Amino acid sequence: GLPTRVRIHEVGARDGLQNEKATVPTEVKAEFVRRLADAGLTTIEATSFVHPKWVPQLADAEALFPQVADLPVDLPVLVPNERGLDRALALGARRVAVFASATESFAKANLNRTVDEALAMFDPVVTRAKADGVQVRGYLSMCFGDPWEGPVPLPQVVRVCRALLDMGCDELSLGDTIGVATPGHVQALLTALNEAGVPTPALGVHFHDTYGQALANTLAALRHGVTTVDASAGGLGGCPYAKSATGNLATEDLVWMLRGLGIDTGVDLGRLVATSAWMADHLGRPSPSRTVRALSHK
Ligand code: HMG
Ligand code: MG
Repeated sequence: GLPTRVRIHEVGARDGLQNEKATVPTEVKAEFVRRLADAGLTTIEATSFVHPKWVPQLADAEALFPQVADLPVDLPVLVPNERGLDRALALGARRVAVFASATESFAKANLNRTVDEALAMFDPVVTRAKADGVQVRGYLSMCFGDPWEGPVPLPQVVRVCRALLDMGCDELSLGDTIGVATPGHVQALLTALNEAGVPTPALGVHFHDTYGQALANTLAALRHGVTTVDASAGGLGGCPYAKSATGNLATEDLVWMLRGLGIDTGVDLGRLVATSAWMADHLGRPSPSRTVRALSHK
């Protein structure tokens, strides 16, 4: 069976914009987030409180967050460490996300830590956030394949998922950072996680569309009972520390499929397409989303 409702975790303003060559003005980012909320998205990842030298595109987090904080939506932000958490809490953030890696290569490239050192860095972040009543998402990158290490063994992924949940994360997001997953692999990972005692309701999926598999992988996850799906408006995105990562699953492509399946998302597709077309104009190149292209008349 399929779920009757899916919660879309919109990552365009974070995963999308973190990878742009040109820096997008803060006012344009704020307008983007407002328009996403206006299109009916209810969870909109706003920015990251990471080291500004590591992700210069999001160095304006302090300026941006207050401009969107009053929207009636959840606005999770990425925090890699206690310094990031302090910055987020100082602005009133009520949802944060830590981001672990299933592979040593990416932990080093993205966080300058081993996998276990990164987990140790997150532990006080999660504890302090929870003590403040702040919801914590735990991302796990490279759940399927890694650009340096190739296919990632399931037990390696399961181990870090368990560690994030045991630390106190409220939900996990399984990242296919470089978009190499296929539906059978998705099914196998979800089953392995269930067998290790991780319940499906704690799991979200985060597919990048490098090989055009993101929608097929999403459908496999929905059939398994997953109801939280990450997507990026217009298909923006990628990770600056993972070569060969392209944009995320486009939110419009996801909404089109879900609508056809009769699954409610609360999203107004017309408004969303208009938002992504507006952002594509701003970025100076067409959206890679097939649905945005099909539905925007210019
Ligand atoms: P480091 O160089 O090891 O940092 O980087 P450090 O802990 O040694 O600290 C060095 C200096 O940085 C110190 O300053 C800290 O205060 C400062 P000093 O005392 O020398 O003056 N510093 C900070 N400043 C501001 N905000 C902070 C912060 N932390 C330290 N939060 C670090 C370690 C984790 C900071 C760095 O590696 C980093 O910022 N990484 C972030 C990388 C990133 O954002 N990647 C993209 C997001 S992940 C992703 O896209 C994947 C995902 O989409 C899922 C998927 O697709 O798989 C989520
Ligand atoms: Mg990502």
